[in-house]
Amino acid sequence: MKDKLTTSKAQLAREDSVVSKSPSKIPFILVGIFAAVTIALMITTIVFAVQKNDIAAKLDELKANKPPVPVDRETCTTKQCYDSAYAYLSNMNQSVNPCDNFFEYACGGWNQRHTVPEDQIKVSVFSSLRDDLKDKLKVLFERSPIAGEPSSYHIIRNDYQSCEDLDTINELGAKPLTDVLTSLGGWPVLGSTPAGGNWNATTFDFEKLWAALRGTHGVQIIVYIDTVTDPNNKTKHKLTASTPFFVVPKVGIEKTQLRGVKTLIDERDYSEELGIKILLDESYSKERKAYLQYMIDIAVALGADETVAKEDMKNLIEFESNMANITVLHPYSGTTENTLKEIGMDVIDWTRFFQLMLPASVDPGVTDDEPIFNYSPNYIGNVTMWIKDQDNRVKANYMIWCLVSEMVPFLNETFLAIQHEYQLEVNKTMSPTARWKTCVNNANDQYMFISGRMYVDEHFTEDTIQKTLEIVHNVRTAFKSMLKTNDWLQEEDKGVVAEKADAMDIAIGYPEWIKNNTKLDAKYADLTATDDEYFQNNLRYREWLSQGALARLREEVKDDYSLWSFGGPAVVNAMYGAAINGILIPAALLQPPFYHKDLPWYSNYGGIGVIIGHEITHGFDNSGRRFDKDGNYTVWWRQESIDNFLERAQCIIDQYSEFIMPETNRSLNGGQTQGENIADNGGLRESYKANMGNIPKQPRLPGIDFTEEQMFFLSYSQLWCSVFTPEGADDVIDNDVHSPGPYRVIGALQNNEAFSAAFNCPAGSYMNPDLKCKVWY
Ligand SMILES: *[C@@H]1O[C@H](CO)[C@@H](O)[C@H](O)[C@H]1NC(C)=O
Ligand SMILES: *[C@@H]1O[C@H](CO)[C@@H](O)[C@H](O)[C@H]1NC(C)=O
Ligand SMILES: *[C@@H]1O[C@H](CO)[C@@H](O)[C@H](O)[C@H]1NC(C)=O
Ligand SMILES: *[C@@H]1O[C@H](CO)[C@@H](O)[C@H](O)[C@H]1NC(C)=O
Ligand SMILES: *[C@@H]1O[C@H](CO)[C@@H](O)[C@H](O)[C@H]1NC(C)=O
Ligand SMILES: *[C@@H]1O[C@H](CO)[C@@H](O)[C@H](O)[C@H]1NC(C)=O
Ligand SMILES: *[C@@H]1O[C@H](CO)[C@@H](O)[C@H](O)[C@H]1NC(C)=O
Ligand SMILES: *[C@@H]1O[C@H](CO)[C@@H](O)[C@H](O)[C@H]1NC(C)=O
Ligand SMILES: *[C@@H]1O[C@H](CO)[C@@H](O)[C@H](O)[C@H]1NC(C)=O
Ligand SMILES: *[C@@H]1O[C@H](CO)[C@@H](O)[C@H](O)[C@H]1NC(C)=O
Ligand SMILES: [Zn+2]
Repeated sequence: MKDKLTTSKAQLAREDSVVSKSPSKIPFILVGIFAAVTIALMITTIVFAVQKNDIAAKLDELKANKPPVPVDRETCTTKQCYDSAYAYLSNMNQSVNPCDNFFEYACGGWNQRHTVPEDQIKVSVFSSLRDDLKDKLKVLFERSPIAGEPSSYHIIRNDYQSCEDLDTINELGAKPLTDVLTSLGGWPVLGSTPAGGNWNATTFDFEKLWAALRGTHGVQIIVYIDTVTDPNNKTKHKLTASTPFFVVPKVGIEKTQLRGVKTLIDERDYSEELGIKILLDESYSKERKAYLQYMIDIAVALGADETVAKEDMKNLIEFESNMANITVLHPYSGTTENTLKEIGMDVIDWTRFFQLMLPASVDPGVTDDEPIFNYSPNYIGNVTMWIKDQDNRVKANYMIWCLVSEMVPFLNETFLAIQHEYQLEVNKTMSPTARWKTCVNNANDQYMFISGRMYVDEHFTEDTIQKTLEIVHNVRTAFKSMLKTNDWLQEEDKGVVAEKADAMDIAIGYPEWIKNNTKLDAKYADLTATDDEYFQNNLRYREWLSQGALARLREEVKDDYSLWSFGGPAVVNAMYGAAINGILIPAALLQPPFYHKDLPWYSNYGGIGVIIGHEITHGFDNSGRRFDKDGNYTVWWRQESIDNFLERAQCIIDQYSEFIMPETNRSLNGGQTQGENIADNGGLRESYKANMGNIPKQPRLPGIDFTEEQMFFLSYSQLWCSVFTPEGADDVIDNDVHSPGPYRVIGALQNNEAFSAAFNCPAGSYMNPDLKCKVWY
């Protein structure tokens, strides 16, 4: 079957159906075998899949595999069941043979109805949910204050309004930014203008500038600095250092950067991988040129002399590329524990840097002997030796550029136009995103617990958390019970794998404390926002966030803190973090088509159940398997288990590498997407087992005669309905660690026998290949 996959290039099998589609006599034979109620279903879903010359064998197979369709199932008549029934049916294209291409079968109708908007490169069920979320948040942010509401609500209202007020933003011009540059001692490229400060290399103070940028403005440069929960004592915090991000095309507003956290779908409108490619990859020279021009244009708009800007920015991009190269040459290879003295290697005075940066409340302050987790010893060692010999003017230009680049989206329309020009050049978008959407996203990102509170009060029902926890419990149990029959993991390793599954922290919906006005307001007590200072609001927010995180160094870890650092409640996504071995399922994901309390369980297990399984499986994918239950990066399996894992992962890599996106005629990168694919495959199996093993018979939906098994797989598949432009297809292939929607469906279902049985897909059909890749099953 490997051959078949290869020869057909496993392309979306739109034309080349495996079997004849012409109606045959089979239906009449089947009538005698199954109850009349099944006929309609058979005609649309099974019959076309069966070859004439194979009737006897197929009938046996049907009898063996086909679960009897219960004639006495009740029909769910709640409003949600009607709404969902309509959605299921209208999303499908029942003219497609489900065994030829289940994605087209499940999503043909949805895809027909949706076109990619001008400012996007793809559209999906997720992007629709996100658009809908933006609409909801807009209403909430524009609402008038009411008595008794948390007083912190004014922060989000003011910030949203200040963002919408482009007249005031235009009037202020570049001044809010140039004031900051002046206060930092000037940006060298700006020369003798006030914001250039007549910069003088002999008085350059690296540690002082670094401390101001990182501590006050929250900009990560050269080395990424943070505080985390100390894995050796989970009640304490510890300093950490790691590689920086190279998100060169900062095409949108800076989003919270989370290292080592996997998201269900790609959250970002740029990616670290793309940034590194633009800096290093020969085939990205057009984008690199655009990036250079962008820097020059911004500098000139801020008052730089064009000739100086060209020279300085050319040096800057070379500096940044060298640094990106050092990250690539020295990838992650384990964590060491250093002191500040050791990590600075007598080149950089880290102790002084932290002393300048940490808030006074950190008591006692740090000394040379302060411990720091060094996540990237080889990178940091090599970049330190390299930076010693770099020119101060280039260093200063680069460091301040990192701030400028993050602040551009908060400037006036002249700067936004330069940014848009750059976006066009790197083919990110075609038309600018509506201003209000930018404003909603920014406010929701920055003040996520305020927006989260507004959201859950209005759109979230309490018992959802309890019911989701029940699903988590059942899916986790299913994962563990599969270990018993797993034939490749060594018996000795099964215990630790089960322990890791049990040790996973799960946060669902929202953190409890946001419902308490006193606590919510206390969280934001030190933060203000006015309705006419968009730039300043962001500046204040950055300082508050950065100083707040650093101030925790000597404080005890608060419950519920770690997981909610992944994102807020009003986020349509789900996350797994290996370092804390935890899963976050935000409130905004807990809505149809993922979950609804009135829907039959097969819908919820095909939806949120698979997502939960997906996140659990991340703990055991190609990267998750390297972290033990405490989040320690270590080898904790027998070598035989690791070898067997790698062999099974390779099967997945090869399978997905054969898939081709018709929009661009290019195949997926199976290596880049393996972790997500392993998670999709495992999640689907775990949730299926949890559902079929635990849930008593569920009602049908009005007008849909499918079996529960069929509904489960249909529910999963319809999460991934999506349409791509050619640019969107290129972007997902090049930069996303997730497979594109069509293959999240096709890949996982091809490997799943329960799917083939539910839809009676003949062995050897596109959706039921002989070769099945399985890692966790
Ligand atoms: C449904 O699929 C059939 C067969 O591939 C195709 O001809 C038709 O255009 C599709 N209809 C829709 C609405 O996509
Ligand atoms: C934006 O600010 C710059 C610099 O202050 C100014 O020259 C420009 O006219 C402003 N643009 C608009 C649209 O007001
Ligand atoms: C830079 O500062 C040093 C020391 O203050 C001074 O001697 C030198 O003249 C300055 N250079 C320029 C170009 O201003
Ligand atoms: C994590 O690993 C470190 C170093 O290998 C070790 O000192 C520490 O005890 C481990 N922590 C836990 C919680 O196992
Ligand atoms: C963890 O740190 C706390 C606070 O410093 C201390 O009381 C506790 O004993 C430590 N626990 C361990 C296991 O070291
Ligand atoms: C990266 O570093 C290697 C080794 O020093 C060097 O050969 C290569 O040219 C560098 N690449 C870039 C793009 O700087
Ligand atoms: C540079 O990285 C290499 C491995 O990639 C490592 O062996 C070496 O010690 C590093 N250099 C420094 C100064 O840390
Ligand atoms: C980007 O867009 C330009 C037109 O603006 C087009 O010529 C080019 O082929 C596109 N590049 C990529 C990589 O899609
Ligand atoms: C809200 O939090 C405050 C401060 O922690 C506490 O005193 C109060 O009892 C809480 N209110 C409720 C309703 O839980
Ligand atoms: C897609 O690429 C393959 C080989 O890479 C080529 O044979 C085929 O003609 C291409 N198809 C289209 C539609 O461009
Ligand atoms: Zn994932």
